[in-house]
Amino acid sequence: MEKLWGGRFQGKSEAWIDAFGASISFDAKLAKQDITGSLAHVAMLGKCGIISEEETTQITSGLQALAVKLAKGDLEFSIVNEDIHLNMEKLLHEEIGPVAGKLHTARSRNDQVATDMHLYLKEAVTEIMVSLSHLRTVLVSKAEQHVETIMPGYTHLQHAQPISFAHHLLAYYGMFSRDWERLAESMKRIDISPLGCAALAGTTFPIDRAYSAELLGFDAIYDNSLDGVSDRDFIIEFLSNSALLMTHLSRFCEELILWTSHEFQFVELIDAFATGSSIMPQKKNPDMAELIRGKTGRIYGNLFGLLTVLKGLPLAYNKDLQEDKEGMFDTVHTVKTSLDIFAGMIETMKVNEAMMENATQKDFSNATELADYLAKKGVPFREAHEIVGKLVLDCTQKGIYLQDVKLADYQAIQPVIEDDIYDALTSHTAVAKRNSYGGTGFEQIKAMIKKAKQSL
Ligand code: ARG
Repeated sequence: MEKLWGGRFQGKSEAWIDAFGASISFDAKLAKQDITGSLAHVAMLGKCGIISEEETTQITSGLQALAVKLAKGDLEFSIVNEDIHLNMEKLLHEEIGPVAGKLHTARSRNDQVATDMHLYLKEAVTEIMVSLSHLRTVLVSKAEQHVETIMPGYTHLQHAQPISFAHHLLAYYGMFSRDWERLAESMKRIDISPLGCAALAGTTFPIDRAYSAELLGFDAIYDNSLDGVSDRDFIIEFLSNSALLMTHLSRFCEELILWTSHEFQFVELIDAFATGSSIMPQKKNPDMAELIRGKTGRIYGNLFGLLTVLKGLPLAYNKDLQEDKEGMFDTVHTVKTSLDIFAGMIETMKVNEAMMENATQKDFSNATELADYLAKKGVPFREAHEIVGKLVLDCTQKGIYLQDVKLADYQAIQPVIEDDIYDALTSHTAVAKRNSYGGTGFEQIKAMIKKAKQSL
């Protein structure tokens, strides 16, 4: 079969070599964007008088017919036609005859593919942002149900100070909100039209790039045609934002995996999000959380893959750039599905409040309370720290906790200690009193929830 670019070739092509160069197996995903881009291009050619009105109408209706067929699943692409752009041109030719050949006036596949990618990513990022906002909403409503649910707060995975479970959830809300902002901000660099940059240097035809950009709903156009066809920064930025977003999901998944273990039993996932074992009948494994944690590695790989493709590329277009697609498609799909699965998991998980609070009872996570108590009564904090540290050691040897120490024994150590120490040592009081801005105190948590709801 004859190649659309076959004019200067004499030798025969070889199918196995062509297959290596073809991208249709994956860039068929850009079919809709390719037609949309072509519709804008042909309208611009017509408006600028580069092709006649009649030709404009013929090409436009041909493209529209292809769009209808595409929606019905009636378009067949062939590897012989290399990529989505040449496949579309061939199909348009079959639809309307030789006038189809006028569509490619003042255009190259280089600006065409870049346009398709911008259009695709604009839509995909918008969808991801919707999923991300849904997750943020789920986190806030879960937090609202658990303002007074007490759990151990950890540092070094050791009990540190008791916190509100809502505080923990809202920490992730903070991360996901920053992820959302980053995606929103990146839109500025996605929402730009390279159409009309042509192969690299622009064109001699009197085109109107602003017009085709406007038809496509782009906010701006590339100022430099070389940059327009060779820029993939917007994809790298998306992959980077996705890598960070997946990092946040992965951290939370790691915690869910810990919390669902027999040792913690803080939460239970509904059956739909868990799987069993083929040999151990008792097992209920948090596979979905593990998978999201695992898929994070792939997303990092996609980011590094494209960074590496770009790092040695001279301007402008090089075929290497065809490698920008699979990682991007994979990332869009993986991030979106991970977000949706994760939101479902959080929304439906059963929180074992008693286990969480119990975990703060038989421990020394109230040691700071005792030190603060002494400091508030005038004992320098460093000295208070030393006193409590010795006491913790003593309790550990005796197998008791700070709340078990008799008042007389407390007073023997430090006469300023009174009966109110026992209330101060409860985890509930420890949490309730931490009302410094952003702290775990219930009033602070309620304020955080209010603020989050306002911004959602
Ligand atoms: N399939 C190509 C890609 O994805 C389209 C651009 C081809 N341009 C070229 N000059 N060979 O990058």
